[in-house]
Amino acid sequence: MKNVNNSFLVWISLGILIVMLFNPANAENTKQPRRNVNLSPFESWRSAYFCLMNQSNACNHKTNYIITLNGTLNVQDSEIKDFCTNGCYDHTLLVFKCIQDVKKDFHFATKAHISFVKNVTINACDVLKGFDTKYKNPNSATSLYGRIYMPLISTLMTMTFIATFGV
Ligand SMILES: *[C@@H]1O[C@H](CO)[C@@H](O)[C@H](O)[C@H]1NC(C)=O
Ligand SMILES: *[C@@H]1O[C@H](CO)[C@@H](O)[C@H](O)[C@H]1NC(C)=O
Ligand SMILES: *[C@@H]1O[C@H](CO)[C@@H](O)[C@H](O)[C@H]1NC(C)=O
Repeated sequence: MKNVNNSFLVWISLGILIVMLFNPANAENTKQPRRNVNLSPFESWRSAYFCLMNQSNACNHKTNYIITLNGTLNVQDSEIKDFCTNGCYDHTLLVFKCIQDVKKDFHFATKAHISFVKNVTINACDVLKGFDTKYKNPNSATSLYGRIYMPLISTLMTMTFIATFGV
């Protein structure tokens, strides 16, 4: 594989990821991700992703209220009451619960664990103080993207080779 162009393989893998994410032929329930039980690691990651896709009008009026794969919620002091009492907080907790039901050890793209982001959010609404779930990885010497996405990409590449060559 040394002579193969690396970025080409990365693009192929990402393409496969997209196909797998949106493949309707899968038996998994994408509308009700919590119904999926006993999932393989990739499937439970995928279900967690569908939990995150559940959006609510209570949050949609402010992009900084919407929890995404990067795990970043950033709510100012002036917004905290709106966030906590007008339904967005309740929705966000349900999204966290959905993720924890399908993947207990879920980490966001920042490497923050789901329970870290959840705790910060709950504490903020307890005291009605603005917050930011930005997470500083204590030992982030290597690049964040390298650590998160490379294992995923190599898994996908392995799967591609198995599927293509039937090994
Ligand atoms: C989406 O979020 C709402 C709450 O805002 C919740 O009632 C519903 O069960 C969630 N749907 C899924 C599929 O998790
Ligand atoms: C996280 O993702 C959201 C939506 O994709 C984006 O608006 C926000 O800027 C991102 N935050 C960081 C720190 O990357
Ligand atoms: C979140 O809070 C719970 C209960 O207070 C605690 O047991 C848990 O260790 C906390 N997790 C993190 C990551 O801070």
